[in-house]
Amino acid sequence: MIDSSFRTAWIWKDGAFIPWEDANIHVMSHVVHYGSSVFEGIRCYETPEGPAFFRLRDHLRRLRESAHIYQMPLEHGADDLAEASFELFRRNGMREGYLRPLVIRGAGALGLNPTASPVETWLMAWPWGRYLGSSALEEGVDACVSTWFRPAPNTFPSLAKAGGNYLNSQLMKMEAVRNGYAEGIAVGPGGLVSEGSGQNVFLVKGGEVLTPALDGTMLDGITRNTVIALCGDLGVPIRETRVPREMLYTADEIFFTGTAAELTPVRSVDRIPVGEGVGPITRALQTAYMDLVRGRSPDVRGWRDVIPQKAKVGAA
Ligand SMILES: Cc1ncc(COP(=O)(O)O)c(C=O)c1O
Repeated sequence: MIDSSFRTAWIWKDGAFIPWEDANIHVMSHVVHYGSSVFEGIRCYETPEGPAFFRLRDHLRRLRESAHIYQMPLEHGADDLAEASFELFRRNGMREGYLRPLVIRGAGALGLNPTASPVETWLMAWPWGRYLGSSALEEGVDACVSTWFRPAPNTFPSLAKAGGNYLNSQLMKMEAVRNGYAEGIAVGPGGLVSEGSGQNVFLVKGGEVLTPALDGTMLDGITRNTVIALCGDLGVPIRETRVPREMLYTADEIFFTGTAAELTPVRSVDRIPVGEGVGPITRALQTAYMDLVRGRSPDVRGWRDVIPQKAKVGAA
């Protein structure tokens, strides 16, 4: 039985709202067998202007790109998906939470070639608290270096947020939790630091912020991009670079970024404490991030999409 905290009244499918209990797919759907899906994760926060999605348009752009990489024709434009997302939150009475757009290959044929299986687009949402535990943002989390590597470039396309990629993430996450850690950090096939199972990773060393450069082994995180911009705003030097594993042990500060994880400090790696605990640059960036998503600082880049209180006439 699904955990009731994920339950809402409505789920959207290809233009129609359907009751949560009717939102089913057939066991012969291509996606169930071969992981043929692409998806997104977007947070909506209560702000003084009302509930607002953070970087909705950028997430919808990445969804389209992920679908394009897997040659899944996406019938719905960004405006339609944005309107449907607003309406989903209004209908479910949600003012905060996590939006999950999901594009799958449905039931059609079971050969590996997915093109004979129809593309279905779903939108669902649920309330989601702190992804890495209730005290994660304040106190930080314990991480390990995973024994699982991220896939090599030109194996699985890391820039696509595709269901199948998350089998690797599941192995990382289960290993970490089994050994008493909140999260794993993987290296890529070349042995350099890549990313967490569902987060990008940043280090601070000598007053400079470092993050692994996009090398075909990690997702181009939207929170990562936000934090790079915030470093600019705060005048903190930032560099995308190659990060050897051992720098995780010598860094002054480390943190994860992700829509779900937000900006979570890492307080130890492989049981080795990171610096002096949660450091000042991590804290400053975390405050700037939370102020931005919660509408406590000006939205100079147009990243907050406030949910209009009434549906547009004619919208789904
Ligand atoms: C593997 C992986 N890396 C990084 C991220 C962070 O991406 P974003 O900041 O766009 O949520 C995620 C989260 O979706 C992820 O699943």
